Amino acid sequence: MTPNLRIAIRGTGMFVPERRLTNADFEKMIDTSDEWITTRTGIKERRIVSEGESTMTMALEASRRAMNDAKIQPEELDLIICGTVTPHFLLPATACFLQAELGAGKIPAFDLAAACSGFLYCLMTAAHFVHHGTYRNVLVVSAESLSRITDYQDRGSCILFGDGAGAIVVSQASNPEQGLITGIMGADGQGASLICIPGGGSLTPFSDQVLKDRNYLMRMQGREVYKFAVSKMQELIRQTLEQSGVRQEEIALFIPHQSNLRIIESAATKLGISMDRVWVNIDRYGNTSGASVGISLDEARRAGRIRTGDLVMMVAFGAGLTWGSALLRM
Ligand code: COA
Repeated sequence: MTPNLRIAIRGTGMFVPERRLTNADFEKMIDTSDEWITTRTGIKERRIVSEGESTMTMALEASRRAMNDAKIQPEELDLIICGTVTPHFLLPATACFLQAELGAGKIPAFDLAAACSGFLYCLMTAAHFVHHGTYRNVLVVSAESLSRITDYQDRGSCILFGDGAGAIVVSQASNPEQGLITGIMGADGQGASLICIPGGGSLTPFSDQVLKDRNYLMRMQGREVYKFAVSKMQELIRQTLEQSGVRQEEIALFIPHQSNLRIIESAATKLGISMDRVWVNIDRYGNTSGASVGISLDEARRAGRIRTGDLVMMVAFGAGLTWGSALLRM
């Protein structure tokens, strides 16, 4: 099976802040329990940014680690894509701050807003540029400070989210077998209001009223999103397998977006995938949105769970609604 896009993940890196927010902390903040959170979501703790930390500072650290791993210097980068919905500033793009901090050349740098599907949207974008020879080395980093937009008075959503960053360097493949076998991107704007920040945008700019209504924070209709996520994750895995002609048993590791352990387990059970081939770290980080797949990819590599030649499938879905998948031969 020849890859559609001949690319290699030359290096990976991740970063999560030191500060922990545990289920026990939530028991002191809202009407909830460790038992409820654990059984409904699988989450035990999340990492959250402290003062002075931001999406850019986390993205910078994850990027440096990925570049070290790839043995690549800042001046060798040709493009920076940052997946985020919680940017360093609202203007300009976080990727531009990163370019300067990394000491890269005057290369193009832009942000891509696809929420939890962000890492895979970025990877697909980078893969096309690299495959067609437009750029040789692309830094992809997905980073989110969800704690900055989480409403800690809303017990139905606040227990889910954490902060972090995952980065990769995408370069041309030296081995013809290596690359992106297939990938899917999709969106359904009919579901745009299911997860959104209603205030602070161009329709309803910041005002006293926005502050008073707490509409600068994320709103989520959890039950609706849950239903969508359960069916979409199964459908995405099925479609990606069908599109590639690869059998489920041939995949060395599945890396799903870490949104809720029940969503992941339900897809695995329905598709007959044993959980020992599914990467799970939601217990430690919660849902870090776009960062989750990048963080997982780096962790899995460092844990020796991904080797050269392995088939790895990544799937994600999120606000938008958006979804994406990537099947890679590493
Ligand atoms: N602690 C205790 N009880 C809670 C609670 C909390 N933190 N949050 C909600 N509840 C209560 C509700 O008030 C409700 O009580 P009621 O039955 O008396 O009305 C009950 O628990 C069930 O609420 P429900 O919203 O149906 O729970 P759920 O099983 O759907 O779990 C989520 C809630 C948010 C964990 C779940 O819907 C989910 O994971 N959704 C998807 C979210 C997601 O993945 N978002 C990001 C997409 S990338």
